[in-house]
Amino acid sequence: MGATDDITVPQDPVEFVRALFKLDPKEYQAQLLEDKSKRIVVRWSRQAGKTTTIALRALWYAFTNPKSLSLIVAPSLRQSMILGDRVQDYLASLQQDYRAALIDRQQRTVIRFTNSARIVILPNSPQLLMGYTAHQVICDEAAFFREDELVFYNVLYPMLATTARAHGREASMDCQTQGGSASCDSDRQQRAAG
Ligand SMILES: Nc1ncnc2c1ncn2[C@@H]1O[C@H](COP(=O)(O)OP(=O)(O)O)[C@@H](O)[C@H]1O
Ligand SMILES: [Mg+2]
Repeated sequence: MGATDDITVPQDPVEFVRALFKLDPKEYQAQLLEDKSKRIVVRWSRQAGKTTTIALRALWYAFTNPKSLSLIVAPSLRQSMILGDRVQDYLASLQQDYRAALIDRQQRTVIRFTNSARIVILPNSPQLLMGYTAHQVICDEAAFFREDELVFYNVLYPMLATTARAHGREASMDCQTQGGSASCDSDRQQRAAG
């Protein structure tokens, strides 16, 4: 258990979700929560619980990785905010003593935690993304990114590779896609073919 004053946060993500948010993840959601892979692509049907699971995973990561930076990125700021707002809603649902112990500052697009972890919500824009050194990037609606090769290979992957070396731990990228789109590579093939 990670401790902040008297508050303890379960290190296991499924236990974390059950204990703090009273949500019982389905088996496939539990698998995603526990997945330690460096890169993850989610391809589930609509309303399967992608946004829910990814939002909770982002919070678990922030609470259990002090000083980490997680970026939430989607094709537009409006789409990034859908996931960002879900994260905010879960924080709002926490018991008051947990909120006080765990959250330092909560703004619409930046959340700072008392363990110095941060979650930043951004649109898909190479200019805005450049300059961050992130430990985790969560991409929603990844199939619909404009300039996806530029963003993934020239901006996002390099910032993660640098962070992984600097901090000696795995960096990860979660790509959440919707309604039948495949991995980032397959999306490009799909689009080229279609
Ligand atoms: N494990 C769960 N138990 C109960 N409700 C869930 C669970 N996972 C997701 N939900 C609910 O299902 C609905 C769809 O979830 P959402 O994450 O928005 O799906 P998706 O992003 O895949 O379209 C939401 O109302 C969410 O609160
Ligand atoms: Mg969704």
